[in-house]
Amino acid sequence: MKFFIDTANLAQIAEANDLGILDGVTTNPSLMAKEGIKGTDAIMNHYKTICEMVDGDVSAEVFGTDFDSIIAEGQKLAAIHPNIVVKVPMIKAGVKAIKWFTENNIRTNCTLVFSAGQAILAAKAGATYLSPFLGRIDDSGWDGMMLIEQIRAIYDIQGYQTEILAASIRSPNHIISAAEAGADVCTCPLDSILGLLKHPLTDIGLAKFLEDAKKTEL
Ligand code: G3P
Repeated sequence: MKFFIDTANLAQIAEANDLGILDGVTTNPSLMAKEGIKGTDAIMNHYKTICEMVDGDVSAEVFGTDFDSIIAEGQKLAAIHPNIVVKVPMIKAGVKAIKWFTENNIRTNCTLVFSAGQAILAAKAGATYLSPFLGRIDDSGWDGMMLIEQIRAIYDIQGYQTEILAASIRSPNHIISAAEAGADVCTCPLDSILGLLKHPLTDIGLAKFLEDAKKTEL
């Protein structure tokens, strides 16, 4: 499973990248707004900076919701860097735009996915990645991981090549379960990635080893 970080924060991207296990970055309008990035030029420059920091795919989301503006924005975003993947919402115009991008060799990430039916449409349109929002499904009282399992089964049976990108990750356990469910990619906040490191027995064991190491010193 590939590891992406789900943020537009450069310090967090650098920290995750420094671990050596980062395969890419995903952003969305809310994450860009959180960093105070405003205006087209600033947004484009921010994506360029991220692409220069990380050797992997960087999802950049369109703001438009009609076919023509999704296409125009997507073309501009894709021109920033070869690693840019155009993130398109799962709406009627979005599906049509994904098909257009596919035919024009522009890679896409279909976002705001909450059902298997939406996953089938995105795959038919040729989406490179599909982003089901696990945390938001859990928040609404459903089981996000069951959706990943269902999409995995459908994609395997049908031979769809679209990669399942588990998004809206809220905890280290979400990452583990996404891996078990067969997600191709998991996009995570930095805290959830670092949370995978933690185990009290590791800390206790290391403290003991360090204490005993002192006894072996001359
Ligand atoms: O990138 C989209 C997704 O990961 C959003 O996560 O936590 O806002 O539901 P969240």
